[in-house]
Amino acid sequence: MKATARACSNIAFVKYWGTADPALNLPFNGSISMNLASLTTETTVEFLDRPDDDELVLDGVPQSGEALARVSRHLDRIGARVEVDAAALVTSHNTFPAAAGLASSASGFAALTVAACGALRLDLAEAELSRLARLGSGSASRSIPGGFVEWHAGSDEESFAESLAAPHHWELWDVVALVEERQKEVSSVEGHRRASTSAFLDARLAGVPARLAAVRRSILERDFEALAAAAEEEALELHLVAMTSRPSILYWQPGTVQILQRVRRLRSEGLPVFYTLDAGANVHCLVPAGHQEVLRAELVALPLVERVLASPPGGPAQLLRAC
Ligand code: PMV
Repeated sequence: MKATARACSNIAFVKYWGTADPALNLPFNGSISMNLASLTTETTVEFLDRPDDDELVLDGVPQSGEALARVSRHLDRIGARVEVDAAALVTSHNTFPAAAGLASSASGFAALTVAACGALRLDLAEAELSRLARLGSGSASRSIPGGFVEWHAGSDEESFAESLAAPHHWELWDVVALVEERQKEVSSVEGHRRASTSAFLDARLAGVPARLAAVRRSILERDFEALAAAAEEEALELHLVAMTSRPSILYWQPGTVQILQRVRRLRSEGLPVFYTLDAGANVHCLVPAGHQEVLRAELVALPLVERVLASPPGGPAQLLRAC
């Protein structure tokens, strides 16, 4: 009744922002992302022969409150499928700072889902694992398949993610510039709730189908310029909706703007690069393979950048051990 799994974080080019059904984490719109091989979570789940409460240890620190409750609810959901109601000990390690807009909930809930299913000997198909991971955290559905991934909107049955292309299809590098490593002030769960209070949400949603088609095509044809244009517009729209929500959410820090300006300048000087942001202050800067070291050096040199992480595309969530 014990298993370990590893899953990659992911960066979305078309974003999930706003839930049509918060209980089931059904998104207003479909989204497309790339898994990040160097930003992973490894999680061990052990179901214990005792009725006590679940325990969660994240990067060596015992967790309580909402973090533990969210994991417990997810384990109950999975346990219910095989009528197991035992307490679980969950230990989890991230290779990157959690909750800093680096999608730790994506890799976290994907790894938790695969480890819990492994411990319970629940052998599910990828689409089913993705639907299950979605119930823990929406973006986690996209960390179950490998490489470049699309998560479909729709009913509970229809809303799962699948690969558009394998990691080796296109060696893009995500060079992440961290300007803030503290936990963000407004969680993405709360941000999704507030999205429908923005006067701009409907305008955004009207344009998403065309953007999904453009991003899908640009990935399949490895068209960097088309991906860059769509992904930057998309990132700005997410933050426009967040900023104009009630109450307003402002994730950006001075360092965020500094990086956006620098990326635009580098592009005008000939470097193929674009930026995107999740719900946080840190900026993901994407380049084709071969340009990541130049970009890293440029970003590290910015005074407000604390640290830079870099990653090529990553594979699917994996069960590492079960015993
Ligand atoms: O899965 P959640 O609830 O943490 O939402 C993630 C939302 C964004 O990261 C901002 C966008 C996305 O699609 O990953």
